[in-house]
Amino acid sequence: MIKPENLNSKLKKASYAVRGAIVDRAAQLETEGRKIVYCNIGNPQALKQKPLTFPRQVLSLVEYPELPDRPGIEKFYPADAIERARHILKCCPNGLGAYTHSAGMPFIRKAVAEFITRRDGIPASAENIFLTDGASKGVQAAMTLLTNNENDGFMIPIPQYPLYSATIALYGAKQVNYYLDEQNSWQLNEEELKKSYAAAVKKGINPVAIVVINPGNPTGAILSEENIKMVLRFAREHKLAVLADEVYQENVYAPGMKFISFAKVLHETGDIDTTLFSFHSVSKGFLGECGQRGGYMEVRNMPKEAYAELMKLQSIGLCSNSAGQIITYIMVEPPKEGEPSYPLYRQERDTILQNLKKKAEMLYGGINEIEGMKAGTPQGAMYAFVRFDLPEEPGRNISEMSEEERLAYESRRNMDYCMALLEETGICVVPGAGFGQIPGTFHFRTTFLPPMEDMAGLVEKIKAFNRKYTEMLKNRK
Ligand SMILES: Cc1ncc(COP(=O)(O)O)c(C=O)c1O
Repeated sequence: MIKPENLNSKLKKASYAVRGAIVDRAAQLETEGRKIVYCNIGNPQALKQKPLTFPRQVLSLVEYPELPDRPGIEKFYPADAIERARHILKCCPNGLGAYTHSAGMPFIRKAVAEFITRRDGIPASAENIFLTDGASKGVQAAMTLLTNNENDGFMIPIPQYPLYSATIALYGAKQVNYYLDEQNSWQLNEEELKKSYAAAVKKGINPVAIVVINPGNPTGAILSEENIKMVLRFAREHKLAVLADEVYQENVYAPGMKFISFAKVLHETGDIDTTLFSFHSVSKGFLGECGQRGGYMEVRNMPKEAYAELMKLQSIGLCSNSAGQIITYIMVEPPKEGEPSYPLYRQERDTILQNLKKKAEMLYGGINEIEGMKAGTPQGAMYAFVRFDLPEEPGRNISEMSEEERLAYESRRNMDYCMALLEETGICVVPGAGFGQIPGTFHFRTTFLPPMEDMAGLVEKIKAFNRKYTEMLKNRK
């Protein structure tokens, strides 16, 4: 039998906070009959969001390729879904059961490039599009390409989405933290980037790339054009590649705010030196098709030799799954106005986005009214990163602890709070320590994905729990 002590130590070191002890306990409580509200992960369809009709109609038709030509099929499917399925089958005559090109089906890569051009008003090339199993695999491909030795570092936001810290640990690279500015709605701060870069170099780290998540997870922040320009300028000055994680680009709720892509700003600044990897996914937005594992990576300013290596890397994994590619195709090429499926598509899309906005306002508004808790204002994505106060534990003196002891101590307290919240209320959230937080602060991340009928009760339960828990700590001898 294999021995645990001989297993990949880099894998053992990696941690992925959005699943783990709290979620395991939640699942156990659920088997014991407790109602659990899963707010730990941005997985909309696990929280009763219905799949959109058109993508599933088309997918079902292409999965069973005889179906579009069956007599009477138009009684069950709208004409444009049948037409679209026929078009797909024509473009991929081998069907969904065959491996595709390693970067994905050519007509879908072309559709993605056209989508980028429509979205941003900039040129885009199908050659630079790689279809991936969700954005995660695109991110990991970029990080594989860029990690050359163990001193290579990735600058990542804190708080961050743990795909980044986990992948860095897995690949044996170095994590270089830069803190997002909580006081300034979690924007990036140039001084902080410089400080973080300089500190890394001082430790002998060679930063190779900077990761930016926009709209943010877990923060929900939407970056301004100025902020994006600043990051690109900083990357150029320091010869860093940029990884722009834009999976929440459809999830923008704040009035007057809009998503601006890194590709657009890069193009407009005329920068032809900075290599940019941008990621998008079918998992978020209004599709919420997490399980279909679809997404794409677009590369810009990529030298030919690096492009060839990236293509080789993708070919080692053969190709991304074909159903995910089809959903990606429909994401970038949805029904158009005037087509039979458009009214239903628009209604489903708008209802999901309006509900998310309402739920975000409900959650943030409610949390901000709780004494000792703060969530800021809802901007985008699917989360609130809630800051909360915890009274000191008697007999503990933080100033006497080493940095490591203090981190472990605070991380344990953060975990205890979230575990107690689960036990008491059935609400499953993720401790802030899993995403990173400024030492001495406590957060948890919650989604606003649960159904509307659970949302109102959710805030009330958090409020009652928080009062009881902090009272308990204050009275502890
Ligand atoms: C910021 C961010 N990037 C990437 C992902 C991964 O998404 P996918 O399902 O496309 O792999 C997530 C998932 O929650 C995310 O929040």
